[in-house]
Amino acid sequence: MDTNKKRLLTGDRPTGRLHLGNYFGSIINRVKLQDQYACFFMIADLHMLTTDFDRTQDIKENILSIAIDWISSGINPEKSVFFIQSKVPAHSFMHLIFSMLVSVPRLERIPTLKDKVKESRFSDENAYSYGLLGYPVLQAADILAYKASVVPVGEDQISHVELTREIARRFNYTYGEVFPEPRAILSETSRVPGIDGINVKMSKSLNNEISLSHSFKEVRDRVMKMVTDPAKIRLTDRGHPQVCTVFSFYNILAAPELIDQVKYECENGQIGCVACKERLSELVNRLIEPIREKRFELERNPSGVWDILHEGTKNAIFTSNKTVSEMISKMKLNY
Ligand code: TRP
Ligand code: SF4
Repeated sequence: MDTNKKRLLTGDRPTGRLHLGNYFGSIINRVKLQDQYACFFMIADLHMLTTDFDRTQDIKENILSIAIDWISSGINPEKSVFFIQSKVPAHSFMHLIFSMLVSVPRLERIPTLKDKVKESRFSDENAYSYGLLGYPVLQAADILAYKASVVPVGEDQISHVELTREIARRFNYTYGEVFPEPRAILSETSRVPGIDGINVKMSKSLNNEISLSHSFKEVRDRVMKMVTDPAKIRLTDRGHPQVCTVFSFYNILAAPELIDQVKYECENGQIGCVACKERLSELVNRLIEPIREKRFELERNPSGVWDILHEGTKNAIFTSNKTVSEMISKMKLNY
């Protein structure tokens, strides 16, 4: 890892296998950024507990699966550090220190809280956990433990990076300069819809996803199930690609000439939806095929993948402990 480069940190919760929404929303972006920055890619298992504290059954398997998806889609563990959040003590310590530097009303105003409360295992809206309220503070600890300059996230996470900047400022002002203020970077790719409609986000919990580990046949079946323009029934009917899920996928993954061609053929009643979907399923499969192959290979050697995670975690512990030492000394807790 090149230590002169600026640092980048981002993470995924270990909720299951990654899908095309994750791929176009963040993974491709990371593949590009890994050469530009010293990257820390974290598996956020503690974050997962903030909503799913009693669903720990599959976490271990999901951690492995995420690491496999990262590597299969081109994130290189020789260039970047892969690590597991809960194995790095600095995150928990910093979360606690930072929790003194932020007010409860400030956390209650964070826009993601309401959604998280709905997802959470505390169904009563007024009785969400202390840990869930502090979720963005934990995220600030994740970022600042590595003094990351950039944090690639989805739009919904911008408010968390803003809070991180406030916490960094408050710490620096109170105890002395330790932290740089990180900047969020948004990935350029548009939102990927689910197979059930252009206005629904792809998500595993809605079972509308195409995952990077789906088989050839599963991919095809899911593409064939996609919601199209309801006004186009026969091949010769004129369709409206802008309301069609299939077309939004062409938009994301086809070459510009093919996008224009599909649009033309659809609008002029020259192609039927079945043929249009078949062509799309080939495109999707062509994209996923190399990822699937690599995944298959890694699945045969899980201990190699765990080694990568353990090595990365050692590196993360080393790096974040330096930050903790600086904090302790500025805070005059060095006894
Ligand atoms: N909160 C993020 C999510 O739910 C995951 C995450 C945890 C994260 N810590 C982070 C992302 C730090 C960026 C930086 O997707
Ligand atoms: Fe959608 Fe293609 Fe059917 Fe047009 S032809 S409505 S783009 S599936």
